[in-house]
Amino acid sequence: MEYSLNGLKVFTRGNKNNKAIIFVHGFPYDHTMWDCQVEVLRENYYCVTYDIRGLGKSYIGDGQYTMEAFVWDLFSIMDGLHIENPILCGLSMGGYIALRAVEKEQERFSGLILCDTRSESDNNDGKIVRSNAIDKINVEGVESFMNDFVPKCFHDKTIKGQTEMYENVLSVTKKQNSIGVKGALIAMLSRRDTTSVLKTFKIPSLVLVGKKDTLTPPDVMKKIAKTIKKSKYYVVPKAGHMTPLENPDFVNEKIIKFIEKNFKKD
Ligand code: MLT
Repeated sequence: MEYSLNGLKVFTRGNKNNKAIIFVHGFPYDHTMWDCQVEVLRENYYCVTYDIRGLGKSYIGDGQYTMEAFVWDLFSIMDGLHIENPILCGLSMGGYIALRAVEKEQERFSGLILCDTRSESDNNDGKIVRSNAIDKINVEGVESFMNDFVPKCFHDKTIKGQTEMYENVLSVTKKQNSIGVKGALIAMLSRRDTTSVLKTFKIPSLVLVGKKDTLTPPDVMKKIAKTIKKSKYYVVPKAGHMTPLENPDFVNEKIIKFIEKNFKKD
């Protein structure tokens, strides 16, 4: 099913009576980055994906976004579709949204899956990198920015060995709207640090990171896993930052095991 909720494009697959998993995509992608997970998990779970505002088919508006507004959007989807106690799964920017959502209203979620993300907010150097990215988009356009940024998200061997998938993903990013992309960069640049609240997380959590992830490397994710009480940590082989796309079989297997271990079938 496809829904339009407050201008957000939302996609559901599977039986609504099954346990819900909400997938939040990374920057600068869209909901399709979770296709390999949804294809498998829809059989036993209610899979919800959506395009974050400014990206994919969701509304663009004026690009004045904040991480807080991204979290309100997530809650509005849960309210609009009457989703109770879902497992929340976010990659990178999707992880920033998931971490803040759990910080705000942990009781609304039954589990957390964090892929290739970090709890720290941008440091000074990181802020300059975002500013340069915005400048590049203004001067050279979105395509040029994507040609620079997207290869950094993937392991070299993925780019060479899974060329068709990589080219498809790159072409999705090149179609993104420049106002939306810049808005997401500002939202990430100005986001809150969630490190100090990780120790208050009580819900079961799965922490996954690509062995060759250079944007949010394994040592960053290991620290998150060590701080969250009920967490399980895995390094995903043959993957950079985009684990669900680069090694979907491994990621799917870990997600299924995590759910089967922690949640009884209704
Ligand atoms: C992402 O994959 O969402 C981005 O790499 C996050 C970021 O740039 O901080």
